Amino acid sequence: MAKFKVRKFITRNVGTASHLCRYRRRIMFICSPCFVLIPVYIYVSVALTYAMKHGMSNIQPVPLLPTRFIATGLSFSKDLAPHPEKCFWRTELDSGALWNFIQHIADRRNNPILKPALIAASVNPSNIPDDRERSIGSAGSCSPDYEILNLMPDYETFSNQMKNFVMSMHCRDYPLILEPRDVCDHGPLAKTRAPMLLLAIKTQSANFENREAIRQTWGRSGRVKGREKEGGLVRRVFLLGMTKDSHTEKKLRLESRLFGDIIQWDFTDTFFNLTLKDVLFWEWFSRRCPHARFIFKGDDDVFVRTPAILDYLQAEEEKTGTATTTKRSTQSNKIQFVVGDVIRNAAPLRSNDTKYYVPKSFYKGLYPTYPGGGGVVYSGSLAHKLFEVSQRVHLFPIDDVYLGMCLQRLGVPPINHPAFLTFDFPKDEPIDPCANHTILLVHKRSPTDMFQLWTETSAPSPECRNTALRVKPGVN
Ligand SMILES: *[C@@H]1O[C@H](CO)[C@@H](O)[C@H](O)[C@H]1NC(C)=O
Ligand SMILES: *[C@@H]1O[C@H](CO)[C@@H](O)[C@H](O)[C@H]1NC(C)=O
Ligand SMILES: *[C@@H]1O[C@H](CO)[C@@H](O)[C@H](O)[C@H]1NC(C)=O
Repeated sequence: MAKFKVRKFITRNVGTASHLCRYRRRIMFICSPCFVLIPVYIYVSVALTYAMKHGMSNIQPVPLLPTRFIATGLSFSKDLAPHPEKCFWRTELDSGALWNFIQHIADRRNNPILKPALIAASVNPSNIPDDRERSIGSAGSCSPDYEILNLMPDYETFSNQMKNFVMSMHCRDYPLILEPRDVCDHGPLAKTRAPMLLLAIKTQSANFENREAIRQTWGRSGRVKGREKEGGLVRRVFLLGMTKDSHTEKKLRLESRLFGDIIQWDFTDTFFNLTLKDVLFWEWFSRRCPHARFIFKGDDDVFVRTPAILDYLQAEEEKTGTATTTKRSTQSNKIQFVVGDVIRNAAPLRSNDTKYYVPKSFYKGLYPTYPGGGGVVYSGSLAHKLFEVSQRVHLFPIDDVYLGMCLQRLGVPPINHPAFLTFDFPKDEPIDPCANHTILLVHKRSPTDMFQLWTETSAPSPECRNTALRVKPGVN
């Protein structure tokens, strides 16, 4: 009996013990991560305390960013990532010059960081008349912009061309009147049959002779052999606005039908409207001849050694690897390239007896680096970029300066080539019988000169046959 009781007692106690054991195992199971975590906790606490003692003392609390974040310059500290210190773009609006003022506003509007709450917060609205939203291009109507007069108190003192420019500079939406049909192939062959060089020549309705000379000499359309290399397909278009002379305009329509190389838009063809020929041509190019590899854009009173230009461009393509001899025309042309007679640090002309006169109240500052408008060559891919960026740059009355403004925004520096003589041969140059063979372009030449130069350079005399392009050491 007693034995039995003892055994019962034992079994009961043994039962309790095994219960305890199970609990301990469970506690162990639950708590074992704690044993791992405790050292981590201790480490973190110690590290934080250390950091707060030794690090925080020279860390300023990061200020709350205002809704309209204006980043400032960079400062480097060993504790913080580089952080802004002072403004890296101008917050003060330009005043006193119309173009700078409205362009500054446009730049803010197109600033990707400022974009949402731009101008409203940054500028005291009472400083700015209602044209805060003055649009680039022709979002609205193309009727004269009389409101802009509020921004130009000295408008009455301007030349007529400046007055006309200011009144219509918000508009670039002019319809096409004449357009060639088959300058560039369309459809599946558009890329393989794209011209190597598209000549886009600024001309005016009355300059029939210049156009005729160009067609028969340096502006020939079709396959053109290089001087040394194989050459390529060349196409030609003339860029025109309108004149008031209905007889001339009628002749021009005939000419267009005959040669199919006229692009004419419905704007008055004046010197200060030349920039329209750029922006409208870029638009036309993007639609009608987007695969042309290079574009020459220049005046109708220059002589161009087209075969030499083709050689030069082919060498450029080979250099940048955009071409292989077999597949050149099918490769997409990606080079952002512009070459010409590069003009640096030019200042606006301030005397009202030149056609380049730009008053201080219209533009202040130097002009950006730009290739002279007499003749410049750029890649087709750059023309697409120019078309895009020009939507964000207000028109400027001088077309080559405007090109410089667009190039600056694209970050594409124009390449200077001393063989682009947009100011003719240097006066003090010793006479060289082969001088005409050292150039890519020369301004200014009459139609008669063009024929003569074409004959001379197409069949060079034996002593001039191997003349190299001119290099002007130290000038760039
Ligand atoms: C440019 O052309 C437009 C449209 O014909 C005209 O209203 C404007 O006066 C012209 N601008 C200049 C500077 O001649
Ligand atoms: C040109 O400027 C001179 C003085 O700077 C002034 O007398 C003249 O009236 C101006 N001419 C025009 C057409 O604005
Ligand atoms: C170069 O071309 C011009 C025409 O622009 C011509 O008058 C001149 O005689 C030429 N020079 C030479 C050395 O042939």
